[in-house]
Amino acid sequence: MAHVSRNDAFVEFERVQKSYDGENLVVKDLNLTLPKGEFLTMLGPSGSGKTTCLMMLAGFETATHGDIRLDGVSINHIPPHKRGIGMVFQNYALFPHMTIAENLSFPLEVRNIGKSDREEKVKRALDMVEMGAFGGRRPSQLSGGQQQRIALARALVFEPELVLMDEPLGALDKQLREKMQFEITRLAHNLGITTVYVTHDQTEALTMSDRVAVFNDGRIQQLAPPTELYESPVNSFVAQFIGENNTLEGTVAEVNGNRALVKLDDGEVIDCKPVNVSKPGERTRVSIRPERVEYNKDRMQEGVHTLQAEVLEFIYMGDIFRTRLRVAGNDEFIIKTRNAPDQVRLEPGQQIDIGWMPEDCHALDA
Ligand SMILES: Nc1ncnc2c1ncn2[C@@H]1O[C@H](COP(=O)(O)OP(=O)(O)O)[C@@H](O)[C@H]1O
Ligand SMILES: [Mg+2]
Repeated sequence: MAHVSRNDAFVEFERVQKSYDGENLVVKDLNLTLPKGEFLTMLGPSGSGKTTCLMMLAGFETATHGDIRLDGVSINHIPPHKRGIGMVFQNYALFPHMTIAENLSFPLEVRNIGKSDREEKVKRALDMVEMGAFGGRRPSQLSGGQQQRIALARALVFEPELVLMDEPLGALDKQLREKMQFEITRLAHNLGITTVYVTHDQTEALTMSDRVAVFNDGRIQQLAPPTELYESPVNSFVAQFIGENNTLEGTVAEVNGNRALVKLDDGEVIDCKPVNVSKPGERTRVSIRPERVEYNKDRMQEGVHTLQAEVLEFIYMGDIFRTRLRVAGNDEFIIKTRNAPDQVRLEPGQQIDIGWMPEDCHALDA
């Protein structure tokens, strides 16, 4: 009979805490559940606890509180090599004295897989990353990108159901990184592998993941699919960390269902969507994405809220215009507009009216 499990929970962190010194918690009450086959990214600034979470899942660190489960089984007391988890790190960690084929064969030998099986699996893994012709070389004879592919093949060669990757593309140049991002997600999805991926690069997180867990200070700030993170950040940290964002400081004047009135510090009152503000008098940071701001009157929709702005800088970037404005005392207010035939070009010093829809203007915590 089929094993009955809670089908939504392949990897589970339940109330997990970690302290290295017995005093400071670097992971605080982490709750996270991944279904089988999901590509989840842990995204956050350096020191926010991402690697620690991955190391606990891999078994190289132990949680000081809480439970970590794999397919319903608590793994706190299972050693790393018995967890059946593939791992890829930034620095590849290939064995320099072994050939590529020997590097790939190693995890299979450790698992007592016979010689002919090993050879077949190594060949398949090399083909998977399009490195079939390189089995006889040593790591030093490969480029950084090729070594990273081999590291990926080595993590996949024993057909793990779960793969952990910690900033695996950090050492590669931009072009190769983008190519590998695509290859990794394609492989993970084709093979149905559950992946926990760690990065501090928000673009990487947004383009690769089914869901992203945004970390700060040992806590998940928001766990959501990329679109939701970008369109509906739950707090100022997430709004600032994901994508470009404009902020205006003010005080909540009124909250009424899904509308809030905010009095900006320069006196202007604007209509916003209340996100994590609830009552008049609260300080707030209003957040607006650069591409949601319009200055061309012909293009403004019905119902936009307008504010006066002074153009400080107008940059032609080919596909878009990037304009820096002074708005309500903020000299770093950026707007991005598509280079369309009817789009107006601006001059520094010009006074303009800018506008946006109230629902694109989020009142967040100060
Ligand atoms: N082995 C360790 N011993 C002591 N402190 C550590 C150790 N590893 C990480 N830390 C500390 O834990 C915090 C989280 O680190 P880490 O999990 O590496 O974050 P991230 O991967 O998000 O950069 C940091 O303050 C870091 O200095
Ligand atoms: Mg790290």
